[in-house]
Amino acid sequence: MSPPRLVTMKVASNRRVGDAYRVIELDGDAGVVRSGQFAMLKGAWGVAPLLPRPMSWLAVEPRPSVLIKVVGEGTRLLAAAAPGDELTVLTPLGRAFADATEIGPATRSVIVAGGVGIAPLLWVAEELGGVGAERPLAVYGGRTRADLPLAERMAEITELWVTTEDGSAGTKGRVTEVLDAALDARPGAIVLTCGPTPMMAAVAQRAHAAGRRCIAALEAPMACGYGVCLGCVVPRAGGGFLYVCSDGPCVDAREIEWR
Ligand SMILES: Cc1cc2nc3c(=O)[nH]c(=O)nc-3n(C[C@H](O)[C@H](O)[C@H](O)COP(=O)(O)OP(=O)(O)OC[C@H]3O[C@@H](n4cnc5c(N)ncnc54)[C@H](O)[C@@H]3O)c2cc1C
Ligand code: FES
Repeated sequence: MSPPRLVTMKVASNRRVGDAYRVIELDGDAGVVRSGQFAMLKGAWGVAPLLPRPMSWLAVEPRPSVLIKVVGEGTRLLAAAAPGDELTVLTPLGRAFADATEIGPATRSVIVAGGVGIAPLLWVAEELGGVGAERPLAVYGGRTRADLPLAERMAEITELWVTTEDGSAGTKGRVTEVLDAALDARPGAIVLTCGPTPMMAAVAQRAHAAGRRCIAALEAPMACGYGVCLGCVVPRAGGGFLYVCSDGPCVDAREIEWR
């Protein structure tokens, strides 16, 4: 992994994935990056929004890429970027899955993804495949079948179990509906999770009840991305705070005071 650099990259492609997501590929060098690390991205859109937006790297080979869900103005502008548009990119940032746990041939894993949280988990599943680890079991949940971007790719590299709240794909309900069965199916597996905070809190609670270690890729609103603005704090178990951008995003779930 390399120190962060501010670089300008051109958009190489921008493709729609499902109804509400885009995958943007960039031309440029994202640095030496591992799964779970992220970048701060900003287009040439002037002062509003002023701040760059944090995005997990979906991959860096063959090109750096991100998966974007539009939730507000920054993601709307990023999702609208056209080939040739320039983005300023601060990369790589944060702690990777590999900083929080071993990613090796002996790693047995249950991966739990919610919506756009699939991005770093898809990459960590590829990393696990690359080192010859057992094929992970992945549980991927969304509100509807439209909220499962890149599920097809995940199914190629994991044993994939899908849940949807409306029952339009897979098991009806949330990821926790099938999580205990997934943990039983992979004795001793570590749990790797990314998605909405309430989902990760529930996943961590179930994983710990089953005596498993759980690594969560956290999300929080961010201004700087490297530990100076104090904007991304979350409560640390036992007191104090943890900076998602520099202590995380990938942390042992026992370090967090989940609320
Ligand atoms: C480390 C990290 C990795 C991320 N990776 C991805 C990714 O791969 N793909 C992706 O689409 N998004 C990702 N996000 C979330 C993304 O950064 C936010 O959705 C984005 O900053 C929102 O900007 P906006 O201007 O569109 O919305 P805003 O106008 O800033 O906010 C719109 C709404 O979203 C909420 N919101 C804003 N930021 C966050 C956040 N970080 N977490 C939860 N709610 C938020 C706000 O409270 C508000 O309700 C990541 C965030 C972090 C911290
Ligand atoms: S985003 Fe600025 S300290 Fe974390």
